[in-house]
Amino acid sequence: MSTIAIARPESLTVAPSSLMRAAVFVAPGLLEVREVPRPVAGPGDAIIRVTLTTICGTDVHILEGEYPVRPGLVIGHEPVGVIAELGEGVTGYAVGDRVLVGAITPCGQCAACLSGHLSQCGHGKGYEALGGWRFGNTIDGAQAEYLRVPNAQANLAKIPDELRDEQVVLLADIASTGISGAEGGRVRPGDSVVVFAQGPIGLCATAGARLMGAALVIGIDGDETRLAMAKRLGADVVLDYRTTDVVSEVRRLTGGGADVAIEALGTQETFESCLRSLRPGGVLSSLGVYSGKLALPYDAFGAGLADVEIVTTLCPGGKERMRRLMALVQHGRLDLTPLLTHRYPLDRIAEAYELFASRRDGVMKVAITP
Ligand SMILES: NC(=O)c1ccc[n+]([C@@H]2O[C@H](COP(=O)([O-])OP(=O)(O)OC[C@H]3O[C@@H](n4cnc5c(N)ncnc54)[C@H](O)[C@@H]3O)[C@@H](O)[C@H]2O)c1
Ligand SMILES: [Zn+2]
Ligand SMILES: [Zn+2]
Repeated sequence: MSTIAIARPESLTVAPSSLMRAAVFVAPGLLEVREVPRPVAGPGDAIIRVTLTTICGTDVHILEGEYPVRPGLVIGHEPVGVIAELGEGVTGYAVGDRVLVGAITPCGQCAACLSGHLSQCGHGKGYEALGGWRFGNTIDGAQAEYLRVPNAQANLAKIPDELRDEQVVLLADIASTGISGAEGGRVRPGDSVVVFAQGPIGLCATAGARLMGAALVIGIDGDETRLAMAKRLGADVVLDYRTTDVVSEVRRLTGGGADVAIEALGTQETFESCLRSLRPGGVLSSLGVYSGKLALPYDAFGAGLADVEIVTTLCPGGKERMRRLMALVQHGRLDLTPLLTHRYPLDRIAEAYELFASRRDGVMKVAITP
């Protein structure tokens, strides 16, 4: 990754109380912790004081300039916080309530939302591809002291008193996404499921497959720490793609092919291996973000006649999704706290980015405290 610099706070030109510190994308390779105007709530908005957040692989792509966002944008999309201000028309919440907000913030009112495609929300109109992803993409994000939550009524999920911030912060994105990989694959009790890649997303897909009742979960990666974590989170068998012919081994272990294959990396190789690992009529549930072209070799899906299904899912968001994920934690079904391997204050977030992007020191996810 290119060098990352932390800038000194710019001189204060407005009253200090109306400023906040935030991680700002300046240019590819350059992230600055700056003083920026603190957001105010418009109608339907809420302002939350962020108490915990984290860094996503997507943020690294943004920082490296691979996913373009406008310079000056506050990045990050995984917020836990306390309501500091409520805009006109937001009811049922009070200043001081602890809330989790999903990475995806649907409006809850448009055709996409009301048809169940909240992540493709058109903000009051029809569908917009990826439209539900706004934080740190099209509007200021969560790596800041304060965050404006649009469509607050649809997006603020109150955190049960007994849950700590650390227990819920990973639900906003990686758990919602990873578990949706198992849901998209329609995993049934007794199924065999293979998950290609055990990064944060794949690990949550592994946990999701187990939650949905898979009898056999096979996790694939090439990193010892991640393979060990996969076992801890629900994989029965782990395979190292560097030393094993993983497709043959999956076919052998499953007696002819897995019922569901989850792609959690976003490469031609893993996509193809997913197809080749499936039984006829199986489901390929794809979570990875691909670049360039993705090819479908005819033999890998029976020349189009193998009844294979390919399903893609963008991280589900909205308050009901967050409530359900928190219920899993509250009742002891899901514990992702082992993935929070490191902690940094917001002022040192550039160091956290560097560590996270390098995957040194067994890092999985980094807790950031504003
Ligand atoms: N669908 C969504 O809503 C959504 C949300 C967030 C992220 N993503 C995407 O999910 C993917 C995974 O994200 P992440 O943060 O977990 O990634 P990551 O980069 O942290 O982890 C990737 C893992 O893949 C492993 N790997 C590399 N080559 C492999 C191979 N050939 N076979 C098996 N494993 C291999 C690496 O060792 C690593 O552990 C990315 O494409 C990301 O952009 C999708
Ligand atoms: Zn993300
Ligand atoms: Zn909508």
